Amino acid sequence: MARVSASRRRFLQQTATAGLACSADLLFGRSLLGQTSLGQTSPSPAAPVRVYLDSRRTIAPLDRNLFGSFLEHLGRAIYEGIYDPGSSLSDSHGFRKDVLNEIRGMGVPIIRYPGGNFVSGYDWLDGVGPSQNRPRVLDKAWNSVNSNQFGTDEFMAWCRAVGTEPLMGLNLGTGTPEQAAALVEYCNVEKGTRWSDLRRKNGAADPYKVQHWCLGNEMDGPWQIGHMTAKEYGMKAADAARQMHDVDPSLKLVACGSSGPGMPTYLEWDREVLEQCYDYVDALSLHRYFGNTKEETGGDSGKFLALNLTMDQQIEESLAVCDLVRGRKRSPKKLWLSFDEWNVWYRARSGDAVNGHQQDAPHLLEEVYNLEDALLVGGLINTLIRHADRVKIACLAQLVNVIAPIMTNAKGLYRQTIFYPYNWALQYARGSVLDLFIESPSTYEVAGMGQVSHLDVAGVVDSDDKKITLFLLNRDLSKARELEVNWEGTTGKQLLASWVLTGDDLKAVNSFDAPQRVAPTAADKPSSAAGRTKIELPPHSYTVFQWEA
Ligand code: AHR
Repeated sequence: MARVSASRRRFLQQTATAGLACSADLLFGRSLLGQTSLGQTSPSPAAPVRVYLDSRRTIAPLDRNLFGSFLEHLGRAIYEGIYDPGSSLSDSHGFRKDVLNEIRGMGVPIIRYPGGNFVSGYDWLDGVGPSQNRPRVLDKAWNSVNSNQFGTDEFMAWCRAVGTEPLMGLNLGTGTPEQAAALVEYCNVEKGTRWSDLRRKNGAADPYKVQHWCLGNEMDGPWQIGHMTAKEYGMKAADAARQMHDVDPSLKLVACGSSGPGMPTYLEWDREVLEQCYDYVDALSLHRYFGNTKEETGGDSGKFLALNLTMDQQIEESLAVCDLVRGRKRSPKKLWLSFDEWNVWYRARSGDAVNGHQQDAPHLLEEVYNLEDALLVGGLINTLIRHADRVKIACLAQLVNVIAPIMTNAKGLYRQTIFYPYNWALQYARGSVLDLFIESPSTYEVAGMGQVSHLDVAGVVDSDDKKITLFLLNRDLSKARELEVNWEGTTGKQLLASWVLTGDDLKAVNSFDAPQRVAPTAADKPSSAAGRTKIELPPHSYTVFQWEA
């Protein structure tokens, strides 16, 4: 496990320098130009940020899978998290009812499983069949024991109970393309073949019809079990994809992209992989974790809250590589992105926090989130929303107990700070993404990033339900900032929702003892007149407003 943590930490540091050593010009691409004063005749800094909102002008329909999540066989995510057969809080399947109801209530559309680093050493056959026959296996990724009492069939049953879709991860580390295709057969073929009949024997008469599959995990990382070169991985992914499509041609397949901009092979890995497997896959995966660390931000919260702009950049750079390979191959197919791991994570990522000491359900990666983490998560959601034309799946990593919005103990659960922006996205971000025009005279200097807008704005329109929603991050740590919405075409009528997440202490956290220390409150009502709505956003805050359109 030391192998994992030490090397992962080294790569994190490199992310800090490589990921942020970019000019403001690079950072403020198409979607952000309007949010800076660069090159504009600048009104006074106190002038409001103006948003011109025309509900007819949209970027793309927003895929609900943009707000997916992730459950890995890691720490207490599965065992003690969603599955705890010994608990009085669990149902007859061993599923924790309180956790299940919470996730069902959130409406999480898609959940990645079973890893993560874990998947690269996992034999899916260990996790199916009579529970008494399943082996206790040492998971080398997290130095933990997996009792295998929860496996593919339990996950599918849990997904059904929650009302979510599985995003299945495949072992392309120690696993073979043949084993990957066998799992597809187990899950998706109705009957009459070796693996589909095994599923039926194990109690599931109907196929699961799993649509989305990840071809391995972070195979560019030296910490990954089975790590290989880009060419080797690209060829293995192509072989797996071909065999899987032979079993079920309808599958949507995601190839492993770079683990993040800090990797020395960033983008070069993606290009070489896609040169091998472009024709056989639908999407490329991206991963990214952020931290308010000495290396990444110097502990400067103003810079920390600007880091979502580097995620905009990562998305745009990865798309450029996809499109480069597309051009070289003269392919009619355009890939989309699966940002299938993203979050804040920097405290619980070394020593005992990543070493299970060969125990069952150890306390690993139990990051405690504060207010500023939640604000950045809000900014990251804005970034995902404005790239919804090409990012079709994204997974907040993870969902329960492990770098998670939901924490459990034997008696119940509580919501961490990051729960709230994520839950707002799930609740309110429906329909199509608005192509907003933003005039933002109010900026601040961020070391290594240039001028950054105080306000970060994303919006959606739901034409069916006739709703317009804005998601607003105020990065100014000390001052309230004004936003003026100029309605063009449809005007926002009745205010349907207005919530703000803020507080006097950026470092405040929730806990079992104080579960509501950081929680949303009602936002001040905006004032509207003559086709304009004025909104005052408190310092260091994330706000959502929804109007009837
Ligand atoms: O989400 C925690 C870990 O972070 C995952 O197992 C791995 O894919 C990433 O490095």
